[in-house]
Amino acid sequence: MEIDPCVATVVQVYHALVDLVAPRPIAWVTSIDQEGRVNLAPFSFFNAFGANPPVVVFSPTLRRDGGRKDTLKNVQDVGEFVVNAAVAALAEEINLTSKELPAGENEAVLAGLELVPSVKVRPPRVARSPAHLECRVRQIISCGDGPIAANLVIGEVVLIHIDDRVLDPTGRVDPRALQSIARLGRDFFCRTTDLFEMERP
Ligand SMILES: Cc1cc2nc3c(=O)[nH]c(=O)nc-3n(C[C@H](O)[C@H](O)[C@H](O)COP(=O)(O)O)c2cc1C
Repeated sequence: MEIDPCVATVVQVYHALVDLVAPRPIAWVTSIDQEGRVNLAPFSFFNAFGANPPVVVFSPTLRRDGGRKDTLKNVQDVGEFVVNAAVAALAEEINLTSKELPAGENEAVLAGLELVPSVKVRPPRVARSPAHLECRVRQIISCGDGPIAANLVIGEVVLIHIDDRVLDPTGRVDPRALQSIARLGRDFFCRTTDLFEMERP
């Protein structure tokens, strides 16, 4: 099978990409609008790209009708966001907060999640999440203006919170304690329970 993006539909191309580029980590993003109303949603077009300065990127794509998602509007208007760690104990809540609520309605309330203030940015953090990246937007790169077009939100991490319960005695995060989840194609997710170690050559 070959899929040529010049010929295939956008949805076919999208399915091939998310089925093949997997597993993807999940940024569970809190943002606020200009009136301070909180929004929470998961984004698996996400990763970290460097540490000096620490930079993460996630992509709220354009909606199928070409409109902007609330998170994209918020980070464009306010310039700050928080990435809450997506972990197995919160899988149901993470999925629930992907529901497209009207602008200004808080998905954290829908999922029964307590929020706590951040330190350096205005969007709050999900209390039950064991780690948080407080971020300021450096740049947003939009790639196209049609359905499912990417918007690369490049964020500089200005503060990292890590719950001591997911740290090992040396102060590094223990992946067996953190228990991240990730997104695969279709409606599949994976846990990080089948781990193996290899020393770098
Ligand atoms: C696990 C998971 C990962 C997702 N990843 C993305 C993504 O990378 N980009 C995107 O635009 N939508 C993604 N979605 C869908 C958004 O979460 C959904 O459109 C949400 O309603 C956006 O919220 P907002 O309009 O409040 O910003 C994902 C959904 C789930 C459940």
